[in-house]
Amino acid sequence: NWTTGNIVEEQVQRIRDQIGGARVICGLSGGVDSAVAAALVHRAVGDQLRCVFVDHGLLREGEAEQVERDFVAATGVKLYVAKETDRFLDALAGVSDPETKRKIIGREFIRAFEEAERALISEAGSDGEAIKFLVQGTLYPDVVESGGGEGAANIKSHHNVGGLPEDLQFELVEPLRALFKDEVRAVGAQLGLPGEIVGRQPFPGPGLGIRIVGEVTRERLALLRKADAIARAELTSAGLDNEVWQMPVVLLADVRSVGVQGDGRTYGHPIVLRPVSSEDAMTADWSRLPYDLLARISNRITNEVDGVNRVVLDVTSKPPGTIEWE
Ligand code: XMP
Repeated sequence: NWTTGNIVEEQVQRIRDQIGGARVICGLSGGVDSAVAAALVHRAVGDQLRCVFVDHGLLREGEAEQVERDFVAATGVKLYVAKETDRFLDALAGVSDPETKRKIIGREFIRAFEEAERALISEAGSDGEAIKFLVQGTLYPDVVESGGGEGAANIKSHHNVGGLPEDLQFELVEPLRALFKDEVRAVGAQLGLPGEIVGRQPFPGPGLGIRIVGEVTRERLALLRKADAIARAELTSAGLDNEVWQMPVVLLADVRSVGVQGDGRTYGHPIVLRPVSSEDAMTADWSRLPYDLLARISNRITNEVDGVNRVVLDVTSKPPGTIEWE
């Protein structure tokens, strides 16, 4: 029978069987899935594992610090941080198509790993041994939605499944591939990860890159980061983090509308709030957030974020809408 303890024991054994004495690398995204996958592999093979955190410049406010500080403190994992904002933003320049963005981000992730791998191979005490395995926090819904599962539809190329390049040089280790999110959280708790990590709301690997509808630029990222931080802070202070599965905040960068602020006309961008409730992200319903919370978020975003003059609420369930806009 299927208990959390069994899952951990079984996966630890499988990981040891697969990896043996080889070296293994794991990319951390800041999300629950990669954190739990890394903690499992660390439990199985200890310091044969090196974690790599690729800061792609598409993260939310404070996220890089959370990985570099909290995750390391909780697990003792050895972490290599790659600052790669320029690489990603250069590759994304001029691109608006969602699938193209996803594929570019997936490809650059792998390239960044390969460079990190080269740096780790030459690190002291490694004897120049190559890293053969790559850990991915792929979940069952990712497999299904990227067209990898049986009877699956190709809806989106999740960066960690459909977005991988064909010349991938690593063998994949995917210990969460049969699990749903709630099971992953239970496994994380079983492994001793703190509540802030296992309770974290899902955030997609491609990050804010797929929450800007239109081309991704530094200015737009800065704007969205600010709006997102306000929305998250207000949701938290309303005590509703646990009621809401996740709340993407989306910038419609190619849309402008007329507004009035102070004495003047504005011609700014809308921000979309997409709070949803869900069991497993396969289906979702829009969250009925209290009106006064929505009003606070709207007032603060329009007052505090230059270039935004309108906040709208997405009231679409999934299906037909997906949770993310791209
Ligand atoms: P959608 O938009 O397909 O999202 O309804 C379902 C869930 O998956 C997350 N998501 C991703 N997670 N890499 C990830 O790790 C991705 O490329 C990706 N795309 C979407 C999304 O946030 C939601 O929780």
